[in-house]
Amino acid sequence: MSEETERDVVRGLKDVAAAETRISYVNPSGSLYYVGYNIDDLVGRIYYAEVAYLFLYRRLPNQRELDKFSSDLVSQMVLPSEVIESIRSTPKTCHPMDVLRTEVSHLGEFDPEGGSQTMNANMRRAIRLIAQVPTIVATLYRSRNDLPVPRPKDDYTFVENFLHMFKGTAPDREETKVLHRLMILHADHGFNASTFAARVTASTNSDMYSAVTSAIGTLKGPLHGGAGEKVMEMLDDIDMEEHVEEYIQGLLDDNKKIMGFGHRVYRAEDPRTKHLRGIVENLCHRQRTMSLYNKCVKIEKRVHDRKSIYPNVDFYAAVAMDALGVPKEFFTPFFCCSRVSGWAAHTIEQYEDAVLLRPSSKYVGEFGRPFVPIEER
Ligand code: SDX
Repeated sequence: MSEETERDVVRGLKDVAAAETRISYVNPSGSLYYVGYNIDDLVGRIYYAEVAYLFLYRRLPNQRELDKFSSDLVSQMVLPSEVIESIRSTPKTCHPMDVLRTEVSHLGEFDPEGGSQTMNANMRRAIRLIAQVPTIVATLYRSRNDLPVPRPKDDYTFVENFLHMFKGTAPDREETKVLHRLMILHADHGFNASTFAARVTASTNSDMYSAVTSAIGTLKGPLHGGAGEKVMEMLDDIDMEEHVEEYIQGLLDDNKKIMGFGHRVYRAEDPRTKHLRGIVENLCHRQRTMSLYNKCVKIEKRVHDRKSIYPNVDFYAAVAMDALGVPKEFFTPFFCCSRVSGWAAHTIEQYEDAVLLRPSSKYVGEFGRPFVPIEER
């Protein structure tokens, strides 16, 4: 037998290290590091743009560098008119993730540097994508509601502009703080499926638009970033806190996965959850929807009692985005608006690693089947 048939399969590539990275570290014991910084030291203390800068330049910016980086992002938030037209012409029934996947790929047709794959060209391309993915999401949302898209304003920060373009109103201070935290918490997470998809694409020396398009298609899945939308559907289904136990029991009895719970790597609570739970508690307090917060806490306790698993990033993030007025079908696009900074950084790191990601497989099919010409089949 050939070697390939003798290899042992590692199902789901669980615990397989496919490459080295310096961008983020997901510690199974329940901590997360971005380029050496524990996220607990970053969330609530820095802007999202500082995290994007950290991923690309491997260090935090000083004030002058941050001001320049932020104004570069804001100046790049404008889309090619052809892409805007294309967004406006998509059927309203099309899922926003399908539009985002298409339009990121479409952006590649208008890249001002064409096919140049120099490091500088890719860094500029990364900044354009980090700036333009939120604009695609805001443009789609406004177009779906027959509303104009405000142009980016120089006197707003990048995240303030994103919020302003999405909601059409001056960015609320509290909401801006929440969006910074949400985007920092979603920015990168080791070799999660969508990041790995981007790296596989980049490992063939394909372009960054192709890598990010691969990632978007991968994040859409409900076992990954698509879970957030399903969490909201579950919370809408559970009309009262008193019904939590029966509802969760029903799902588990039917062998169904509880959306927003469990994780391939963490053996303890996802370190992002405490930040997200706190954001949701504050938002629910502000909006007098503490019954929703209490329902979430009860679900969390019930699922842990039954399955010893914890909420992942999608559980409380869904409630936070809902509280910000984001429709559930836009939750995963919002996830993309942040994770694109991680995907772009991993794409560049993979180019530097310069090795094709091509695993083997274990062939378990037949051998030596006798060929029969079609006339005799
Ligand atoms: C994200 O990888 C990342 O870092 C991703 C992410 C990121 O930041 O990029 O963190 C973002 O994608 C979070 C995950 C969002 N997905 C969901 O919320 C969907 C629900 N979760 C599950 O499908 C599951 O937990 C996964 C897919 C996230 C992880 O699955 P694994 O590692 O393949 O584990 P498994 O499905 O084999 O489950 C192991 C055990 C099983 O029990 P037994 O059959 O062995 O008795 O845990 C149980 C599972 O039944 N289990 C669950 C469960 N998750 C695991 N049971 C009920 N509900 C769940 N959600």
